Amino acid sequence: MCGIVGYLGTKNAAEVIVDGLSKLEYRGYDSAGIAVCSEGGLEIRKFKGRLAVLAEDIEKNEMKGNLGIGHTRWATHGEPSDTNSHPHFNKDKTIAVVHNGIIENYMELKEELMADGVEFLSQTDTEVIPHLVDKYYEGNLLDAVYKTVERLRGAYALGVVCKDAPDELVAVRKDSPLIAGIGEGENFVASDIPALLKYTRKVYFLENGEVVHIKGTDLKIYDAERNPVEKEIFDVTWDVEAASKGGFDCFMAKEIHEQPEGIKNTLERRLDESGKIVLDSIKMKKEDLEKINKIYIVACGTAYHAGLLGKKALEAFLNVPVITDIASEFRYNDNFVDENSLVILVSQSGETADTLAVLRDSKAKGARILAVTNVVGSSIAREADDVFYTWAGPEIAVASTKAYTTQIVSLYMIALNFALEKGSIKEDYYMYMIEKMKTLPEGVQSILDNQDKIKEIAQKIVDKEHAFFLGRGIDYALAMEGSLKLKEVSYIHAEAFAAGELKHGTIALIEEGTPVISIATQEKLFEKMVSNMQEVTARGAYVVAIAQEHNKGVEKVADDVIYIPNSDDMLSPVMAVVPMQLLSYYVSTLRGLDVDKPRNLAKSVTVE
Ligand code: G6P
Repeated sequence: MCGIVGYLGTKNAAEVIVDGLSKLEYRGYDSAGIAVCSEGGLEIRKFKGRLAVLAEDIEKNEMKGNLGIGHTRWATHGEPSDTNSHPHFNKDKTIAVVHNGIIENYMELKEELMADGVEFLSQTDTEVIPHLVDKYYEGNLLDAVYKTVERLRGAYALGVVCKDAPDELVAVRKDSPLIAGIGEGENFVASDIPALLKYTRKVYFLENGEVVHIKGTDLKIYDAERNPVEKEIFDVTWDVEAASKGGFDCFMAKEIHEQPEGIKNTLERRLDESGKIVLDSIKMKKEDLEKINKIYIVACGTAYHAGLLGKKALEAFLNVPVITDIASEFRYNDNFVDENSLVILVSQSGETADTLAVLRDSKAKGARILAVTNVVGSSIAREADDVFYTWAGPEIAVASTKAYTTQIVSLYMIALNFALEKGSIKEDYYMYMIEKMKTLPEGVQSILDNQDKIKEIAQKIVDKEHAFFLGRGIDYALAMEGSLKLKEVSYIHAEAFAAGELKHGTIALIEEGTPVISIATQEKLFEKMVSNMQEVTARGAYVVAIAQEHNKGVEKVADDVIYIPNSDDMLSPVMAVVPMQLLSYYVSTLRGLDVDKPRNLAKSVTVE
């Protein structure tokens, strides 16, 4: 986690860095800091709290200089505090380091450095790095960084500056994301593209072990063996507006409203003249598919919930069992992955540490790896055999919304094409599903256009401590996402249950007024859901149902109903999740919380 930005150019470095960090706060936001190098020396400022605390301090008391590094933190080692914030520095405060990742052997390095007489100020793993750079520095910063990283185990993206090298910045990555940006007479490094969009669209994606050396106006990249590397420049095509709030009060609201467009882009830009889906970036052929006898979908968080729906689609269309698992569990389980396995990894960021680890383990076992991700050039995208990009546009809010719906649509598209290729579905059904999927953007839009009811419901649950989400089949997978959304942005304790399971224990928790969001979009399970709603109504629950428009009968058992447009049962989740996203957003807003940056969370989880 954590975000880093480095700059060397002609502008005020602090301004560029703070602006860049503001686009990376999704990576962590419990403290922020900066080091600026100028003729006057190396100045370091860092504070616990949001980036705004640092920005205010700089506003009051300007930091001069054209070279600097900055950091926004999500604590792993050591609580959020001024001292534990980055940059960390050596004894004489001549070397400053920002770090994203975890140094696994920091304890032994710390002991070694302490034996050399080094005093440690923070509880972080990172602090060993500036001391090591100091130990190896003999007038050549690049050389000192190389020698330092040889000693490190774990994951890192590092930015290093030194008072005695006032026109140099060195950055290096291993298992944590890092890009370099090239401007006119200025160069940058950052954890992610949005940090640089205001200044440049020309970036390099760095591979593991690569080192960036910026000296004056020159930027060079070397591999781990110190050989120069020629890389292709990647031109970023998204507009700056796509990474800013565009009139909404927060990114989550904006991103919820961008779903019709995201779904449309993901689907329709891939349809050929005959209306069929072109999976151009997936190179798997019929013979590859035939070889596969096990399919796994592995992911974390919301992406895992999308994977649960992908499983339903693959099983229904391809007629084969599919195992969906959480990456942090899967990587340590006996998972039977082999060369006849297809492992589908779903990840918005393409950087989630556990998902990436599953990719590498499964690849080593000979499995075919298919990534479904939103971030072009991310580690998962680069290391997979095949990639399918969700075209949701940048997702900034920590709570994932548009990535989820586009992930579901992507997984359905993949399942449909594989099934057609394999001959397990007929062409008529394939075309019927595509036609139905084409109506999704309009369906989602109609929900977005009618939010009054959802706002009313939010008022009714804003003061509750607990909420339950019920569903059966596909709707159960959806209930998990609904409950995650509510808990992460509103802090209401929320749980999802398979509706039939509730009476095996949890129903004991239902009391007068407990909100129970009941998703009933599946025709064949509708009556069963109605019975489950009756069971909780009888215990005093406040029941909110989400149902297809034609199922008006639900009004008899629910206190409030949110209707979604009629659709194919398989596709209704893409619409039914939207009222739950909006509900979570409204409850969070009514509670006066920071919707985009919920406490203790970060968007990109690049640690285990
Ligand atoms: C974090 C985010 C979630 C996200 C999960 C997986 O926990 O807060 O919104 O679903 O990571 O992230 P990924 O980028 O792999 O989809």
